[in-house]
Amino acid sequence: MTPIQTPSIFAPVSTPAFAIRDLSLFVLGITAVIFLIVAGFAAYTLIRFGRRPTNPAVEPAQVYGSTQIELAWTVVPFLIVVVLFLVTARYVWGIERRAQPPDALEITIVGNQWWWEIRYPKLGIVTANEIHVPVSDAARPTPTFITLESADVAHSFWVPQLAGKMDVIPNKTNRIWIEPRTPGTYVGQCAEYCGLQHGLMLLVVVVHPRDEFERWVAAQQAPARDDPATRAGRELFASLACINCHTVRGTPANGVFGPDLTHLMSRWTIGAGAARNTHENLQAWVNDPSTLKHGALMPAMKLSRRELDTLTAYLVTLK
Ligand code: CUA
Repeated sequence: MTPIQTPSIFAPVSTPAFAIRDLSLFVLGITAVIFLIVAGFAAYTLIRFGRRPTNPAVEPAQVYGSTQIELAWTVVPFLIVVVLFLVTARYVWGIERRAQPPDALEITIVGNQWWWEIRYPKLGIVTANEIHVPVSDAARPTPTFITLESADVAHSFWVPQLAGKMDVIPNKTNRIWIEPRTPGTYVGQCAEYCGLQHGLMLLVVVVHPRDEFERWVAAQQAPARDDPATRAGRELFASLACINCHTVRGTPANGVFGPDLTHLMSRWTIGAGAARNTHENLQAWVNDPSTLKHGALMPAMKLSRRELDTLTAYLVTLK
């Protein structure tokens, strides 16, 4: 995994994010001019009229009911607001009305307390927290259209370098699209307070060149590895409550409550950013997830040391 940039709306790499950056600069430009005028007048007044011996006998000129001044400070701000409104509406409309082209990749993302399920319905892939998409170039545009659903409470999907923010609401389907032009790894976060571990709902979007994306798809579509050396761990896993919540394709594990583990080790973190996905951390997680992510719905498995070693040895083969 490459080092990750701090997410910023000023470093866009995807069509809607470029539009949002341009609009933001436009609004910032206008508000900066207003700020300079207001602050300029304030500074001028402070310098010009400050600290002078006052003569209470002489009152400054009193101005009442100047139609010209009142019109100016009503009409000018009104026009500024109209301009900001119209320009913003045009950008929002431009992003919202984009029709889904036939080549688009379709993804469904389901917000959960506190992780993201990532489904590729047409490709038969289910993963978690880390979204892989192809880069889109002018010659062959391949945007990704995302359907957003929630399994529990309101979350919000936000990867600032790729698109705007979209709420993820229970019993409602929202849509958003991205069209990344530059391969790389981009991060985001759940942007709507959703409970204790709202801060640990990391979103990672890996944008691949086309051939690399196709290799990723092929790897994810493959059934889970069945390494004879870790058969004992595989049997232990199948005998435990793990399989009620997790799926490992090609095994009796077909639970859907927790993340799909078929290619667990292809992921960079455990617990949506709670820890790096290493053998050691995975073992700690299985032993008691609350040590890494307090409040996580997965229970401590209460395994003996030996069982824990056997089980983890199996899990790390799920590449
Ligand atoms: Cu999910 Cu905040």
